[in-house]
Amino acid sequence: MGEQRLDKIIASTGRFSRREVKALVRQGLVLVDGMPARSADEKADPERAEIAVNGEPIVYRRYTWLMLHKPAGVLSATEDGRGTTVLDLLPEELRRQGLFPVGRLDKDTEGLLLLTNEGGLAHDLLSPRHHVDKEYYVRTAGRLTPEDQAAFRAGMVLGDGLRCMPAELRILRAEETESEAAVTLREGKFHQVKRMLAARGKPVQYLKRVRMGNLTLDPQLQRGQFRFLTAQEVSALRGDR
Ligand code: URA
Repeated sequence: MGEQRLDKIIASTGRFSRREVKALVRQGLVLVDGMPARSADEKADPERAEIAVNGEPIVYRRYTWLMLHKPAGVLSATEDGRGTTVLDLLPEELRRQGLFPVGRLDKDTEGLLLLTNEGGLAHDLLSPRHHVDKEYYVRTAGRLTPEDQAAFRAGMVLGDGLRCMPAELRILRAEETESEAAVTLREGKFHQVKRMLAARGKPVQYLKRVRMGNLTLDPQLQRGQFRFLTAQEVSALRGDR
């Protein structure tokens, strides 16, 4: 991996900005192998050096993985002249890391969105060959029925000829004018949940992704908030592919 500037290494954890690292170095609170760093642009090998800030060791990771609770109204893109993107929800230090969303949620869809700069694993998780489950909570117009469930299970063919893999529709509440369900897909085609339910005459009113593979949306995260994945969660993703 080689040597990198201390401020870059420490800021990559997302806990401190580069400016804060400078101030901490000046106060003698950044130690490299037990010795106070002299300057924030001093270099170290993040995979070998023991770096501590304020007495706490820095856990350096080569790649960044974040779980974001995407709010409605935000685009799953890295840049867009016309609107707010998920990257706009991150602090400056993280925006510089080349992160991108792992797949897309529609602008009006909320919930679990992963962001990373680890292209290979992200690509594998999205690849249709790997069939990583994606689970959604959905509210529809109309009453969901066992026939809808059976159609999902059989694998639907949509009006434009799109052939969907078998999917699960678990009905949570079914009333005359509105229903709630958990939908699990093993693929992620454009507007897929909305199109499948529209084809059953039960248009989606609200959609939220709650799970991807082994990862469930963290209930502590409010809309627009994110957290780093733990090392165990990243390993579990490697197992999902
Ligand atoms: N299916 C949809 O229709 N929209 C999403 O954002 C995700 C799945």
